[in-house]
Amino acid sequence: MQSRVIRQSFLDFFREKGHTIVPSASLLPESPDLLFTNAGMNQFVPYFLGTQRPPFDPPRAANTQKCIRAGGKHNDLEDVGYDTYHHTFFEMLGNWSFGDYFKHEAIEWAWELLVGRWGLPPARLYATVYQPGPGDPGEFDTEASAHWTRLFRNAGLDPGIHVVGGNRKDNFWMMGETGPCGPCSEIHMDLTPAGDSNGRLVNLGDARCIEIWNLVFIQYNAGTDGSFRPLPACHVDTGMGFERICSILQGTQGLAHFEEQVSNYDTDVFHPIFTALTGLSGLAYCAALPEPGRNPNAAERNGIAFRVIADHLRTLAFSIADGIPPGNKNRNYVLRRILRRAVRYGRTLGLGSDGKPFLSRLAPTLVAQMSPVFPELEKHSDRILDTLDREERSFNRTLDRGLALFQSARARVPEGQNRFPAAAAFDLYHTYGFPIDLTNLMAREEGLEIDHDEVRRLLEAEQQRSAMARQVTILSAQSLSTPVVTEFTGFEEYESPAHLLEIHEVDGILLAVVDRAPFYVEKGGQVGDTGTLIAGADEIPVLDAYQIDRAIALQIPERPATFQDGVALPVLLRVDADRRSGIEAHHTATHLLHWALHEQAGTDIAQQGSLVAPDRLRFDFNSAALTPDQIARVEEAVNARIIDDAEVSWSEVPYADVKSKPGIMQFFGDKYGDRVRVVQIGGHPGGLDGYSMELCGGTHVRRTGRIGLFKIRSEGAISAGVRRIEALCGQVALRYVDALLEEKDLRCRELEEKLLAVSKQLEKERSAARAREADSILLEILEFAVQENPERPVLTAEFSGDAALLQELLNSLKKRNFPGVAVLAVRDAGSVHLGIFVSEPHQERLPAGRLMQELSPLVNGRGGGKPGMARGAGDQPEGIPGLLQKAREVLTTA
Ligand code: SER
Repeated sequence: MQSRVIRQSFLDFFREKGHTIVPSASLLPESPDLLFTNAGMNQFVPYFLGTQRPPFDPPRAANTQKCIRAGGKHNDLEDVGYDTYHHTFFEMLGNWSFGDYFKHEAIEWAWELLVGRWGLPPARLYATVYQPGPGDPGEFDTEASAHWTRLFRNAGLDPGIHVVGGNRKDNFWMMGETGPCGPCSEIHMDLTPAGDSNGRLVNLGDARCIEIWNLVFIQYNAGTDGSFRPLPACHVDTGMGFERICSILQGTQGLAHFEEQVSNYDTDVFHPIFTALTGLSGLAYCAALPEPGRNPNAAERNGIAFRVIADHLRTLAFSIADGIPPGNKNRNYVLRRILRRAVRYGRTLGLGSDGKPFLSRLAPTLVAQMSPVFPELEKHSDRILDTLDREERSFNRTLDRGLALFQSARARVPEGQNRFPAAAAFDLYHTYGFPIDLTNLMAREEGLEIDHDEVRRLLEAEQQRSAMARQVTILSAQSLSTPVVTEFTGFEEYESPAHLLEIHEVDGILLAVVDRAPFYVEKGGQVGDTGTLIAGADEIPVLDAYQIDRAIALQIPERPATFQDGVALPVLLRVDADRRSGIEAHHTATHLLHWALHEQAGTDIAQQGSLVAPDRLRFDFNSAALTPDQIARVEEAVNARIIDDAEVSWSEVPYADVKSKPGIMQFFGDKYGDRVRVVQIGGHPGGLDGYSMELCGGTHVRRTGRIGLFKIRSEGAISAGVRRIEALCGQVALRYVDALLEEKDLRCRELEEKLLAVSKQLEKERSAARAREADSILLEILEFAVQENPERPVLTAEFSGDAALLQELLNSLKKRNFPGVAVLAVRDAGSVHLGIFVSEPHQERLPAGRLMQELSPLVNGRGGGKPGMARGAGDQPEGIPGLLQKAREVLTTA
């Protein structure tokens, strides 16, 4: 039976039973608590609650409803692709009674349609009924149980096996957390080859026994307070998985064969999309499912990709048609996640890596296939295609880089471990737009797991960072309860006694205002400090520091137990000293860099911005591109000043005194009223006579030697006329240099190997060419020698080359069955290789070995051999003409 016939047969059946056939509701739900329409009953909620009267006479309806179960209470997203029967989008066939018939007819008709009309064998059917567990609402559903018992008994089956009890988890249906709900009775079908599972597989999530129809008896309204209030009337709400019933009727060849596992994807619902997908990818669909607990192999991956793409395409096309496009938030983000998963799975089939979107090329097939039932697809097909195209293109821009990052993070997972790094998952989400569930899927394919708690922590920290940035702006505009001016002690010390004055809570983030603090607040490019707040026995981490008007507030995750509002609490504040030392080294190095740039590349260089962190620095300035030589000189100059171990000092002076003083960099100075802070390197402390002098509110090392080592990592343009240098100091720089050397070493070795291979190849080609050339000359003189003396041709010749060439020539004489005697000399720089060939008939009279002994001394050499062939060598190439002359004489006279 074709799917469209099955659908129609269902609707016709219920039309005969007095139901009005209604169109599917939009996927955009009316209920504010739902992400998507997730069940056929959604559109009828007001009738169930009694707030509206159903417009049907009798009050019964039936339809096929578009449903999405992704995100929210009913969420099948994670299962899609890995089994035969879960989808994010599916059709649900349903019939409803609004205060009209109840359990008896609902059960009776379900049986009549399945068994009577479609011929499902009752022996393979199981009915579940509500049997509440401890704390579950309502009572055992004796009524439903009695109806099923009668039906199974009449079919000659044991109701004790075919009627199965289930608690709230399986047999109490709720649309969401609230709303109309009630006990339900599900029909499951045994799809094992023999149909003899005897109910053991019911509700186990096993594809060999699946739920096909759910009959819900709506009796209650679930409230937000967890209550279940009886409704004014009792209703029926049923839902049958359309694709599932299709898979059973089609996959068993009309209920005749149960040997093969049936699959929703092996039906005419999915065939057209698969065919289109094969057309695009050139790959056929592999139906084999991955075994649980084992990484899927290539064929199984192909199957997963086909199923995911087809399923997701349906979800996307139908939602876009209903006016829900992929986007950044809520249900729209669920769709974006779904789209990105589909795009990523396209790569498995080789689709999209050329930058060409494929979903919009598949969509027309779906539109053509489903529009007769859901005309909205046809009506909005332009919108569907455009949206898919745009979204896919946009993700394609980062997908490949993200995939590369995934692979490199994956490659770094040590052998034997199965944890994919949470930081990489976060990065993929934050920078490359990979939804976390997508990364999770990819990791799962590689047999890896993600630490979801850690990812959540990173996401929260990120959210907190951006929320803090927003909140602090708001907070600083508010005045504190008392105007506090916090004394900053961090120039002199890392640890200070202080008082905690008040704690502000902004969006769940705690900010502790203190009277003194060694914590630097991020400004002028230098990042803020972290550390610890110690109050008695409490050691509370300080996550960041903020400026609120003139007060410093420390971000802490919890209140000290001893703190009371309105009472100043003595505390000890301790900055993370290692981190701060790193920051200070990088800050002082930034000043040295600024100075060196002026020295090496011109005084008109002006600072545009900077970042000073514990493990790196960034310095932006306006200038033309620096030459490699200038960069090297800047680096050298900074390191020379580090070796000098110059004193770094700072002083506060009236701004008027330094305002127009040359040699003091004034771009990013922090001003304290009319006084400014000058940080100088070299000169006398406070003398304003350093070689580097900057107005600066940041913290620094006391001597340049502490920086240890300065290394520029990169120099490049960030916008027109603005350059950026990134550099590292101390241990970080050393590690970087080490890594660089290692990489260079590796590259050198690779290059050497390549070079060697190339030169070997070249040499091979060269000698082959020489051999070819020599051979053709040989051929000519050989013919000439034969013509000249057919009885006993004599050949004497000189070549230049090497021993291999000589061998080639001798081989060639042999191969050509040269009928005479040949004496060959190959000149090889300062040496000579000699070869003598004597053909069979002349060997007795002129054995090659003896000839060689006679001739080789003429090039100051030696040699010998057999009667047919002899080799020799000498070191006087100048003797070659004489040797060949002598050879001719001997051979012609002998
Ligand atoms: N609302 C029930 C379900 O979705 C029956 O339609 O399963």
